[in-house]
Amino acid sequence: MEEHKSETGRVCVTGAGGFIASWLVKLLLSKGYKVHGTVRDPSNEKNDHLKKLDKATENLQLFKAELLDYNTVEAAISGCEGVFHVASPVILSGISNPEEELIKPALVGTKNVLKACSKANVKRVVVVSSVAAIASNPDWPQGTIMDENCWSDEEFCKSTEVIYLLYLRIWILGV
Ligand SMILES: NC(=O)c1ccc[n+]([C@@H]2O[C@H](COP(=O)([O-])OP(=O)(O)OC[C@H]3O[C@@H](n4cnc5c(N)ncnc54)[C@H](OP(=O)(O)O)[C@@H]3O)[C@@H](O)[C@H]2O)c1
Repeated sequence: MEEHKSETGRVCVTGAGGFIASWLVKLLLSKGYKVHGTVRDPSNEKNDHLKKLDKATENLQLFKAELLDYNTVEAAISGCEGVFHVASPVILSGISNPEEELIKPALVGTKNVLKACSKANVKRVVVVSSVAAIASNPDWPQGTIMDENCWSDEEFCKSTEVIYLLYLRIWILGV
């Protein structure tokens, strides 16, 4: 008997040209998904590898989107049943204005993505975070599992000047 194969869906991956998202796009294409990938500059050669992926010609559509510009995010997510929100500024040093360079794009960008997902009736949203969001808490008892009760300590992150850790905490908690 011939096995019925249901049609694989359409999903969006934000920040498609980044390190983690590129691998994800490759995997999704290999499984037959139609992928909307967001990039800030489709003409930038750093995104060329995406166009060379297997099945990219048929199933990958790149959208020019900036996390802080809701309309561009909405255009990319429209028509998708799943969204992987991977885009985020990943800057580990040399930050002069963390609020503007890290926290705003992470926080407002994630809110824009979730708003667009709600509008498009997206069935499932995956937001990529990092172990860094929970790992920097010097008061956490050794040997105790770190989970959603253990967020990186704000004052500790500021004191170490690894603001990336703090922004991940803010991104998750919204505070
Ligand atoms: N790599 C790791 O080992 C690791 C481990 C744990 C967690 N993570 C998390 O995974 C996520 C992705 O990390 P990654 O290593 O793949 O970083 P990455 O290679 O720097 O990719 C980040 C992507 O986000 C996009 N982006 C940044 N700011 C944006 C904005 N304002 N609007 C639209 N797009 C924006 C970048 O676009 P452009 O190309 O235009 O700059 C880039 O494509 C981050 O949240 C990071 O914290 C990564």
